[in-house]
Amino acid sequence: MRYSEDIIEDVRMRNDIVEVISSYVKLQKKGSSYFGLCPFHNEKSPSFSVSPGKQMYYCFGCGAGGNVITFIMEYENYSFGEALQFLADRVGITLPKQELTQEEKRQEDVKKRLLEVNKLAANYFYFQLKHPQGQDGYSYLRKRQLTDETILHFGLGYANKTSDDLYRYLKSRGYEDDFLKESGLVTIEERGGHDKFWNRVMFPILDVNNRVIGFGGRVMGDGMPKYLNSPETRLFDKSRNLFGLNYARISRENYILVCEGYMDVIALHQAGFTQAVASLGTAFTPQHAILLKRYTSQVILTYDSDEAGTKAALRAIPILREAGLSIKVLNMKPYKDPDEFIKNLGAEAFRQRIAQAKNSFLFEIEVLKAQYALEDPEQKTRFYQETAKKLLIFPEALERDNYIQAVSKEHYIPYENLKRLVNQLGSRMGTGSGSAAESRWAAGSQMRNSSAAGGVETGNQMGISGLDGQEKARERRKKAGSEKEEGSRQSQRLLLTWLIERPTLFAKIEGIISAQDFVEPLYHRVAEMVFAAHEQGEIQPAGILNHFINDEEEYREVAALFNASLKESLNNEEQKKAFSETVRRVKKNSLDWAGKQAKDILEFQRIIQAQAALGSLHISLD
Ligand code: CTP
Ligand code: MN
Repeated sequence: MRYSEDIIEDVRMRNDIVEVISSYVKLQKKGSSYFGLCPFHNEKSPSFSVSPGKQMYYCFGCGAGGNVITFIMEYENYSFGEALQFLADRVGITLPKQELTQEEKRQEDVKKRLLEVNKLAANYFYFQLKHPQGQDGYSYLRKRQLTDETILHFGLGYANKTSDDLYRYLKSRGYEDDFLKESGLVTIEERGGHDKFWNRVMFPILDVNNRVIGFGGRVMGDGMPKYLNSPETRLFDKSRNLFGLNYARISRENYILVCEGYMDVIALHQAGFTQAVASLGTAFTPQHAILLKRYTSQVILTYDSDEAGTKAALRAIPILREAGLSIKVLNMKPYKDPDEFIKNLGAEAFRQRIAQAKNSFLFEIEVLKAQYALEDPEQKTRFYQETAKKLLIFPEALERDNYIQAVSKEHYIPYENLKRLVNQLGSRMGTGSGSAAESRWAAGSQMRNSSAAGGVETGNQMGISGLDGQEKARERRKKAGSEKEEGSRQSQRLLLTWLIERPTLFAKIEGIISAQDFVEPLYHRVAEMVFAAHEQGEIQPAGILNHFINDEEEYREVAALFNASLKESLNNEEQKKAFSETVRRVKKNSLDWAGKQAKDILEFQRIIQAQAALGSLHISLD
């Protein structure tokens, strides 16, 4: 971190979180906290809370959480430095001059100028479109039934027929060749500069903060290539941006439509579906999925209905699943893409298709089915086997059973038979010997059901069908190990949460638990700060969070620790009892861990004694 902790803490404390967030989100006071609609995902009832006491925000819907600095980082898509500068300016603090290296200074400057030049170009293209020289482009867009309002809303434009028009314009604004080269808008050759785009209608690509980061340009007819896109630049990373997300993220639907192209997004928005985005010709990436996850928990794929579109959907589904998104697939037939569909059948019919969108797993099975000639018993059997194999991706017995039911119903496969097939396959997987663990798994996964982790992270091992037996067994063993670990993490997390929520509990655990007993590395770091702060008299959650700000995953998790009080508070009798049990578990884990590290026999004996003493440990909260 480039700034001193004191400066960061000063900026944070002078920016009251309720004040800052109020200028973005309408907040209402409820008890000691404020609530509003979460700006990081789509929702209809407020689950976004801001606590003036803790100086933190937390969304009980999507888990977004942090302090005032992370809020500005996430909302404005700023880096830590940018957010700090913004908040310092807001309250009139002058940040100490940064010791930027020459190179860092140059980089920042280039980025700033690239944004400028892209914005200039977008304005320039728009201006051309609206003037006589842009007549062709304008009529093309109108012919495709875009209104003037839509053209303005998306800032569509036109690149002239001449081959160095924009280049000369940008030169006249003082940009030099070396810099322009980096913008992706022109190519510089010995004989001079040329525009990358000419005689095309132009689609500016905006990031979530409405900054122009690149362009797509379409020929107005059948020329090749149909679309030309800006190359990747310092600003434009195709795998991390989605066209239309700047608008979709503030739509009030609780899902996002993902389609293939510029025109699909624009036609959908024009028809009122402002929750549509497109991944623009590049394959859908895990970064796209993570980006979407910030704003929604449900995605509806509206890819083209042709073979390429189906393939793209089949590739995107596991990526979206991995990010924990729930996915449906919309049937566009008999039309090719959303643009054509809307033109022919209108918005209402599209709305119905949204309502009928198919669960992505059932979609996968449907596509699978089409590969078999089912009148042949052998192929039919193969289809059933493949289906059963795919059903194994659901580790939760209950969920798996729901899918077995749905598949058997949709494809007329007798339920009992399919279930038996799935269980057989399940127990055969791995070593093939049908060990106790395997058959327990196949019989219905008691172990998993009772685990603290639930099914949350398990959806990820989708690769099962591609793994060979031994590998699968290893995967599963790893899984069992990580479940135990997850249980241990859970106890540490609970205890830490409770201590933060109710500092009087420190007295109850004195002499039993110290920061050392939190063995999970992240919790250990938090625990050290929390215990130290408690000793000094006051825990300041938002200040502690500063230390984790450089890692999004970390600060989210730490923010969750500080905000779990509603979910995991110690309000009822059962939880009070759980406290004693949790302390015991944390201590036990810590001793087990210490036992493994013990260096000599004396130390080891001491640990064994402590372990034995645990049996009689009881802490009463009353
Ligand atoms: N694409 C591209 N380069 C191409 C073709 C397509 O980058 N040569 C990208 C574009 O982002 C395009 C998307 O892939 O929007 C989908 O392609 P396609 O379905 O062919 O285009 P549409 O969006 O349907 O465009 P249009 O309706 O204008 O034909
Ligand atoms: Mn199209």
